[in-house]
Amino acid sequence: MEKIFSGIQPSGTLTLGNYLGAIQQFVELQNDYQCFFCIVDEHAITVPQERLKLRQNIRSLAALYLASGIDPEKATLFIQSEVPAHTQLGWMLQSISYVGELERMTQYKDKSEGKDAVSSALLTYPSLMAADILLYNTNVVPVGDDQKQHLELTRNLAQRFNNRFNEIFTIPEIRIPKVGARIMSLQDPTKKMSKSDTNEKGYISMLDEPKKIEKKIKSAVTDSEGIVKFDKENKSGVSNLLTIYSSCTGESIEALEAKYEGKGYGDFKQGVADAVISVLKPVQDRYAALIDSKKLDEILDQGAEKASFTANKTVAKAKKAMGLGRVKK
Ligand code: TYM
Repeated sequence: MEKIFSGIQPSGTLTLGNYLGAIQQFVELQNDYQCFFCIVDEHAITVPQERLKLRQNIRSLAALYLASGIDPEKATLFIQSEVPAHTQLGWMLQSISYVGELERMTQYKDKSEGKDAVSSALLTYPSLMAADILLYNTNVVPVGDDQKQHLELTRNLAQRFNNRFNEIFTIPEIRIPKVGARIMSLQDPTKKMSKSDTNEKGYISMLDEPKKIEKKIKSAVTDSEGIVKFDKENKSGVSNLLTIYSSCTGESIEALEAKYEGKGYGDFKQGVADAVISVLKPVQDRYAALIDSKKLDEILDQGAEKASFTANKTVAKAKKAMGLGRVKK
């Protein structure tokens, strides 16, 4: 069976963008692949975090994965820092990563821009991400559009390692959803929806109450034309709302355009809000039942054990290939 790995950072409550770009596809894919889904807490500390908040976010993210439909019988769900193999292979891959190629990553440029001091881990973040993926002989990595560049680097590092040492890594393919790969901010549709946005109205959190969701969608930036039509360039706000609507209901963009022909943005926004609420409300109800449960801990314990089993085998092979450690006499 082919393997899948993907991860999400516990750096704040997940947004609708994370859900539509990533989690929604994970839930589908778990039926056809052997899946590993990770809460990448070691990635989160590449920028300063508040200790207690981080702890909360880690648990919350685990509950959100499950509440969204990740089934622990089918997929392995675990916390990155509970499987030390990730940082072990991450270090080995750092040793074959070039500073120049890491400095070219857009995420690094965005996050370091204008800052006096950034951590060295922010720069080497993609080497750890490559390790996450390569540890599990991953064939496919489902992600949103913004992770393309990191995936390309992962493939390069895997090839470089295989050529230089020994053919041990599978070269992974990226998988991006056809609709919903890049959900934009509701307030500035030229920017992606992000959990670190300082304007709360720009994003919908997966745990926003229905009333709040409705309010945020109603105040989303559109245009003065009053026509519901997909045109990314000239009508970025409306196009983003159409994408959200379509990803939530499965209806095509064309069908939605036809449905709202001759109607104003008021009706349309109400439709978008209803669609988002009908997807998130059941997730929120399941979340409430999971967040303080023992079951959540049991699932994460088992997940870490299962992930370690595969990951440790890969680390042993990589160490041998690089000549680390010793051969016992
Ligand atoms: P992160 O935590 O920023 O986002 C998690 C996933 O959500 C997707 N995503 C979006 N999709 C559509 N529209 C948006 N506005 C949007 N915002 C986020 C992301 O593309 C991602 O799939 N570096 C990764 C975490 C990571 C990882 C990995 C991913 C670490 N190791 C190994 C895959 C494989 C990140 O920061 O994602």
